[in-house]
Amino acid sequence: ERRDRIRNFSIIAHIDHGKSTLADRILEKTKALTQREMKEQMLDAMDLERERGITIKLNAVQLEYKANDGEEYIFHLIDTPGHVDFSYEVSRSLAACEGALLIVDAAQGIEAQTLANVYLAIDNDLEIIPIINKIDLPSAEPERVKQEVEEVVGLPMDDCILASAKDGVGIDEILESVVKDIPAPAGDPEAPLRAMIFDSVYDPYRGVIVYFRIVEGTVKPGEKIRMMATEKEFEVQDIGVFTPKPESKKELSVGDVGYMIASIKNVSDSRVGDTVTHAKNPAPEMLPGYRKLNPMVFCGLYPVDANGYTALREALERLELNDASLQYEAETSQALGFGFRCGFLGLLHMEIIQERIEREYGIDLITTAPSVIYEVVTTDDEVLEIDNPSHMPDTQKIERVSEPFVKAEVMTPNEFVGPVMELCQKKRGQYIDMKYLDENRVNIVYNIPLSEIVYDFFDTLKSNTRGYASFDYEIIGYKESNLVKMDILLNGEKIDALSVIVHRDFAYERGKIIVDKLRDLIPRQQFEVPVQASIGQKIIARSTIKAMRKNVLAKCYGGDVSRKRKLLEKQKEGKRRMKNVGNVEVPQEAFMSVLSMD
Ligand code: GTP
Repeated sequence: ERRDRIRNFSIIAHIDHGKSTLADRILEKTKALTQREMKEQMLDAMDLERERGITIKLNAVQLEYKANDGEEYIFHLIDTPGHVDFSYEVSRSLAACEGALLIVDAAQGIEAQTLANVYLAIDNDLEIIPIINKIDLPSAEPERVKQEVEEVVGLPMDDCILASAKDGVGIDEILESVVKDIPAPAGDPEAPLRAMIFDSVYDPYRGVIVYFRIVEGTVKPGEKIRMMATEKEFEVQDIGVFTPKPESKKELSVGDVGYMIASIKNVSDSRVGDTVTHAKNPAPEMLPGYRKLNPMVFCGLYPVDANGYTALREALERLELNDASLQYEAETSQALGFGFRCGFLGLLHMEIIQERIEREYGIDLITTAPSVIYEVVTTDDEVLEIDNPSHMPDTQKIERVSEPFVKAEVMTPNEFVGPVMELCQKKRGQYIDMKYLDENRVNIVYNIPLSEIVYDFFDTLKSNTRGYASFDYEIIGYKESNLVKMDILLNGEKIDALSVIVHRDFAYERGKIIVDKLRDLIPRQQFEVPVQASIGQKIIARSTIKAMRKNVLAKCYGGDVSRKRKLLEKQKEGKRRMKNVGNVEVPQEAFMSVLSMD
């Protein structure tokens, strides 16, 4: 039967351990276009994704493989995004598989994302095939890494396949292992339809393209389907598979992985993790694991030019069509005027959206510092969710405040254990556990407030460990903290867009750092500008921006016109990102200064 010859799998790996290279080798062996050729052809629209070298959207390719047993097998290789912000999407694409190829770099060993991905694969009951990649490297230590796989991941070291994706070593063994070790999909093709959505993308011509995996039942064009979570109904126009070119099919059945087009206007009607069933004779229950994604990180987006407000709203409306996890609502700031408070899955997601608005829609933005959602219980027992620090009620009205915490796992060489623990401590981390992976690598676990992760944790970790540490986290829930709102005053005026929530014990230190940073970032004005940090009515830190002394142009001796023009242009360039706040000109970077830690 056809179904017995289907194998659905993903490749999971830590960044740079060779996922794309191995995928390319597999595509070559099965004579599909390679991933890189495919990217060139299909993803031209998304330069950003390619520039950053990360996969934001998942893809699924159908491949044909003739195995040593003489049979022709159908492989569905499902790609997963490579960043912690998108871990829910990773978990759903793994849920569409029966197996996963786990790649570990023979020179690096297991890293934080290796383990995070393994946990996701185990949660989804996948058969895991461990692969030690890059054995061609002089620094490769396949025996040591094999042992690590056995000790840390719990897979027998003898099961590891040694490979070099670069040189094409081990590829046949991997493909045969896919056939032998990964089970064929099970499920009843006559049962009511249940198909899991693991991705959906918006196409301006065809509407939403749903990527899904049929778990039970069969679906055909013309049928009426229902999304079980959103309860929306649509008529199927086209279904098919990617080879990697889209290829229409008359039906898709158990084990098939492909696409569906059904006049869906908005990706929020086809959410990742949702179950597709028939409108008539629907399945009684959804597939497990559906979760509506809630944004974790918020910031204000304001057009530099107040006339850009409508354009910004239109840009957000368009981006939302393609991104069910992007949230926004109108907000007004005394300092910045009309803009939007936007919610994101994480920092990378936030940066990607900001860049797309600026590049694709040509809107210059002022972005306020990212914040998490704080839970405030007031003295009248009211519960508030605060996603904007300036909305924090007055201290005397607050009974208690809680903030989201993450469980952070850092893997690092021995020599950096000190600096890593120091950093976690400084970020208000609570020590949980420390385990040696082998004689010179350690896994350190801390619970840390999400807001501290948002503030440059990753960059500092990288620089404190010369790039050697890897890091992954998951949200574990809310905990009470001693938090207060700190306001920033420029020229005696409170600037709402600069308010920040800080831990009381660190308030003085942070206040001092922030006012000094602002003093350095805000250009001198015609008059002296005091910069102050306050908690409630109490000023806790102060510094002063001195008045401007001489004209910049005075630096250009006499008549060099082109030089003078350049300087003026440079000033203008700088001005684009300036916002007049009260009577002080404030550059974009100043709104991020509340993030600086030293
Ligand atoms: P992300 O897309 O960033 O997650 O990385 P990835 O895991 O897809 O890694 P990728 O395939 O892009 O490989 C990362 C680097 O390792 C590239 O420079 C590859 O050329 C190199 N590389 C991949 N496989 C091998 C290998 O077997 N041997 C050697 N020497 N280098 C390899």
